Amino acid sequence: PHRPHEIVQMISAKQIAARVEDLAREITAAFADTDKLVVVGLLRGSFVFIADLVREIDLPVEVDFLEASSYGDSTESSREVRILKDLRAGIEGRDVLVVEDIVDTGYTLQHVMGMLRARKPRRIECCALLDKPSRREVDIRATWTGFDIPDEFVVGYGIDFAQRNRNLPYIGKVRFLPEDTK
Ligand code: PRP
Ligand code: MN
Ligand code: MG
Repeated sequence: PHRPHEIVQMISAKQIAARVEDLAREITAAFADTDKLVVVGLLRGSFVFIADLVREIDLPVEVDFLEASSYGDSTESSREVRILKDLRAGIEGRDVLVVEDIVDTGYTLQHVMGMLRARKPRRIECCALLDKPSRREVDIRATWTGFDIPDEFVVGYGIDFAQRNRNLPYIGKVRFLPEDTK
């Protein structure tokens, strides 16, 4: 059963688009010397963000995906990161940008960065749209962050609540209502 809730807009589509442009400009400058950048989206949450971000990155780009899951349909991290789909290509000696929608406890990003670093890329960085620093349980940070946000359960722009609301064009916060409210 779905807990009764409402969604309140927190970051508008316009604000996101402006920030994505800034991030892409910084990434383009930082990897200016690359022959080709491998942009890795962490499925499923990052699919909207990576689509917008790659179109603003002014470099030769290859797109690959990795599927990691720790939340399932829960609002609580399991702290156990399962890799459900690995990259198509090898990344040894390559320049890699990992794209994540949100860093919360940090377990997902820590696990993925550790796993990919072990494959000896020439350089690997991460760009996350959202960061909830107050929730961090492990010491990890994205190289670039779009927005720091407070400890609210958020949805939209790729992010789900029990697999729903990924298609909202904005970032919204979920306000849980008392069980007897409809
Ligand atoms: C969510 C989100 C991040 C991760 C962040 O993914 O998309 O990948 O959790 O949480 P953490 O920092 O506490 O690990 P989820 O496991 O829900 O899978 P999904 O991307 O398929 O929704
Ligand atoms: Mn995810
Ligand atoms: Mg999820």
